[in-house]
Amino acid sequence: MKFFVDTADVSEIRDLAATGLVDGVTTNPSLIAKSGRRILDVIAEICDIVDGPISAEVAATDFDTMLREGQKLAKIADNVTVKVPLTPDGLKTCRALSDAGTKVNVTLCFSAGQAILAAKAGASFISPFIGRLDDISSNGMGLIADIVQIYRNYDNFKTEVLVASIRSPSDVTEAAKLGAHVSTLPPSVLRQLFQHPLTDKGLQAFLKDWEATGQSILDQ
Ligand code: G3P
Repeated sequence: MKFFVDTADVSEIRDLAATGLVDGVTTNPSLIAKSGRRILDVIAEICDIVDGPISAEVAATDFDTMLREGQKLAKIADNVTVKVPLTPDGLKTCRALSDAGTKVNVTLCFSAGQAILAAKAGASFISPFIGRLDDISSNGMGLIADIVQIYRNYDNFKTEVLVASIRSPSDVTEAAKLGAHVSTLPPSVLRQLFQHPLTDKGLQAFLKDWEATGQSILDQ
């Protein structure tokens, strides 16, 4: 499973990229607003830090403007993936950009039917928002299971399932069990994945026992 981070905070991205675990980055208009910076500057900076796909979302809702925005975002760097909403004009934009060789991430997916449309429109990624489904007492992970199963049935569907709106480490492991291709993680969830109390306890015991030996590996 690939790990993307879901943030436009460049210092967070730099910090997490240093772990070697970050395969890409996703942003959205809310995350760009939170950064307080100009979208073109932020995306360019992120593209310099991480080699993998960097999702930058269009802000228009009509085909002509979405296409122009997408073309402009795609020119920032070779690894920009243009993000479009799952609307008729969004999917029309997806088809046009994909046909021109630009990767597209179709966002705001809440049903398996929508995911089929995105695959047919040539999307490189589909972003089902599992946390927002759970928030309304729907089954986010059930949607991931449905989309993974449907996409596997068709060799001509090349779209990767990018699990979005993740809230916890168990969302990541459940999605991985289902075979989803990518999880996009809030930085806090990526950090939480490292945590286990038995790891901390075991390490403390090893360090104590080692100290008692008086040895140094580098001095031998
Ligand atoms: O970037 C898309 C998605 O991951 C947003 O998640 O937490 O705002 O529902 P959230």
